[in-house]
Amino acid sequence: MQRLDYSDTGEGPPVVLLHAFPFSRAMWDADAQRCASIARVIAPDLPGFGLSPRLPQPSISRMAGAVLGLIDELRVHEPVIVGGLSMGGYVAFDMMRQAPERIRALGLFATRASADTPQQREAREALIERIRREGFKGPAQRLRETLLGSTSLASRPELAEQVDRWLQMANPYGVMDALHAMANRRDAAAMLPTLTCPALVIAGEEDTIIPVEEVRAMADRIPGAMFEMMPQSGHLVNLEQPQLFQAALERFLRHHAEPASVQ
Ligand code: MLT
Repeated sequence: MQRLDYSDTGEGPPVVLLHAFPFSRAMWDADAQRCASIARVIAPDLPGFGLSPRLPQPSISRMAGAVLGLIDELRVHEPVIVGGLSMGGYVAFDMMRQAPERIRALGLFATRASADTPQQREAREALIERIRREGFKGPAQRLRETLLGSTSLASRPELAEQVDRWLQMANPYGVMDALHAMANRRDAAAMLPTLTCPALVIAGEEDTIIPVEEVRAMADRIPGAMFEMMPQSGHLVNLEQPQLFQAALERFLRHHAEPASVQ
């Protein structure tokens, strides 16, 4: 089985938080601390990131399988709340496809259900080639400009530096694996109207990677989903609007984290 490194913080109903590309579980540290009094927050490093080894055959489905394996390994038998940011959301959708009975509620943050378009796939393949030729340093710099919103770029130098440090820590091979995995992921859009679990959908007002209109349209297709927009935030909604994001997550957890028997 694919082993994943992870953090496990707090006590209460289990919540699994899945990080964005090309970061690690470190991006959830503040959220896990804030929610520790109401939930047990498990945050894995997805394969090829942080301290988790790469997958022999990278794919979003295998990443999802590895997270389900971790939940088993931790002997979490009750259904979990899964929250994923961007690539983490792609993994969350695949967990839902593979094991809907293991998921009690979904958090979908700055993510999309649709697969890559041919143009997006081509862009990822070109980026893989570039990283293979030149390494990840140059592309990482450009990525930082697109990940953060204009407000954060103009007014949060400490956050930009933190994002830079994380980008520099990413393993270029893990990055190429994930680009390949994302380019070839399944389309989950047909699943949206069939979702019966509670869902919290969050978008960033200034997100240029997955624009707010697209995230809102996804939320509209999920029966009963709650939608929140983080103002003056780019793609990294939990880092760019930490207080608003954590408050929204906490409200959602408080509401949906009761044991299944009392729901
Ligand atoms: C992410 O933030 O996880 C990625 O930008 C997602 C993507 O490239 O599709």
